[in-house]
Amino acid sequence: MFYPDEIIEEVRSRNDIVDVVSGYVKLQKKGGNHWACCPFHNEDTPSFSVNGNKQMFHCFGCGVSGNVYTFVMRYENFTFPEAVKMLAERAGVKLPEIEYTEEQKQKASRKARLMEVNKEAAKFFYYQLRSPRGTIGMQYLQKRQLTDETMKRFGLGYSGKTGMDLITYLRQKGFEDDLIKEAGLGVISERSGLMSQFWNRVMFPIQDINGKVIGFGGRVMGDGEPKYLNSPETPVFDKRRNLFGMNFARTARTGNIILCEGYMDVISMHQAGFTQAVASLGTAFTAEQANLLRRYTDNVLLAYDSDGAGVKAALRGIGILREAGLTGKVINMRPYKDPDEFMKALGKEAFQERIDQAENSFFFELRILQEQFDMKDPESKTKFHREIAKKLCTFREEVERDNYLQAAAEKYFIGVDNLRKLVLSYAAQTGDAKPVERPRTTGGQRNPAQEKAAKAQKILLTWITDDPKIYPKIKKYITVSDFTDETVQAVASRLFTDLDEGKFNPASIISTFEDEEQQRAAAEVFQTQLPQLSTKQEREKAFHDILLAVKKNSYEYFSARLGSDVNALTQALAGKKALETLAKTHISLD
Ligand code: CTP
Ligand code: MN
Repeated sequence: MFYPDEIIEEVRSRNDIVDVVSGYVKLQKKGGNHWACCPFHNEDTPSFSVNGNKQMFHCFGCGVSGNVYTFVMRYENFTFPEAVKMLAERAGVKLPEIEYTEEQKQKASRKARLMEVNKEAAKFFYYQLRSPRGTIGMQYLQKRQLTDETMKRFGLGYSGKTGMDLITYLRQKGFEDDLIKEAGLGVISERSGLMSQFWNRVMFPIQDINGKVIGFGGRVMGDGEPKYLNSPETPVFDKRRNLFGMNFARTARTGNIILCEGYMDVISMHQAGFTQAVASLGTAFTAEQANLLRRYTDNVLLAYDSDGAGVKAALRGIGILREAGLTGKVINMRPYKDPDEFMKALGKEAFQERIDQAENSFFFELRILQEQFDMKDPESKTKFHREIAKKLCTFREEVERDNYLQAAAEKYFIGVDNLRKLVLSYAAQTGDAKPVERPRTTGGQRNPAQEKAAKAQKILLTWITDDPKIYPKIKKYITVSDFTDETVQAVASRLFTDLDEGKFNPASIISTFEDEEQQRAAAEVFQTQLPQLSTKQEREKAFHDILLAVKKNSYEYFSARLGSDVNALTQALAGKKALETLAKTHISLD
């Protein structure tokens, strides 16, 4: 965490969530809550609610929830530190200067210098393109149908005929040779010393999500080799963690992001109004980039080239997206090679249609897979069906698996029951339909039983935050270790500590989590849908059931670990006793 917890909490408490959200959407007071149409998904009737008491928001439509920090993070696409800064300013809280070590300072100032030299170089290229010397570059870009406005928006440039102009310019601006070299802008040649890395190319500055230039891609104007020359990795240019166009796509608010292969694809998509297009940086798409995308969307559309290499890259991309918990869809560009060509030939309406018709990545995979089999040959066809069954086994959720199973059966004319049997037999061989594990999501829930247990635990915590006065009544039956789900337990532990100290502040608990994914998960814990029951009797019964369910799960959990966990026996025995008492105890919700 950047700032001390107390500061985070002070900034949060000085920014009333109802006030802050009102600055973005029109809220209407109804009952204890304020309501609006959700700013995070499309809807006509308000299901987005802000609760001033809890200082939290929740949308009953799309399920997002959180505190004032997570709201501005989502709305403004801010990182947590950015949200803290913004809200601190809003409330007039002065943030402490962060103290750095000497080494950190040097590193930071070196990075700052690298950013400066990149910025100067970008300026130099930019003016070259617009000077008489840059005419060939300008003609090339015009031939590719880029408008002046687009060239300006992307800061396109031209690197000059000789390798010395840039170096001379940068030296004049006071940059040392080793810095120019470290930034990847210059290379040492034996004959002439430091020379420009780029010459006689049109230049695409690569920006980070804040729009700062971190590197360049340079394209030959014509057919030379290599077609693109990219800056090498530097301390500020991490090709695995950045995406071309992301600085614009982050605020596109289209509900999806389009992942392309090339810089030119991105630029021509933006020119046509698809400002949600991004591309990786001359290297294959990475898991880090998928995580970056996940900050902005969970719906990624692949617009890769339609040739063999593009299809292969798309299949790889789908896997990476899936691992990151994102839904991937594939846009069909045929008969054109890439989005750039498509846009020029058919225009944006046609492209929008292709977006709307984008193919579910699972069916895309099956379609490509099918090409290897001969559907007229029963033997080969059977093999294909087996492959489908194997693929179906990778869905971790039963409902999801079954939905795909039915759809696949229908699409490929396989009997549903036959396919189900096939899936079951593979599932049995591989030890249940156990899928690839997803990295670092909400506490890594793995099977339906665990998920059900976590659900009950979440409901219990939501119930307590909705009505904190029940906590003292159940305190003696329930302990933090009853919450066997990792994230829920972390939340419960903080909540119970607060309540024991007579504090009640669920929104502050969310910000004590460091990672944004955890914050989101923590917010969810407080926002589970409670059973809607009218009579007090029904509510008391439902509450009692939930309490029992949590307790019972915890008892089973520890009983199953008797051999491997030294505390399990104590926990299980205590759990059993509590369970017995609880079964006989009436807990009033008054
Ligand atoms: N690329 C690269 N080096 C190369 C070729 C390609 O770094 N020698 C990267 C670039 O990031 C490029 C992407 O791969 O944008 C896709 O390559 P390609 O489809 O060949 O280029 P386009 O961006 O489509 O450019 P153009 O339309 O000018 O061919
Ligand atoms: Mn291309």
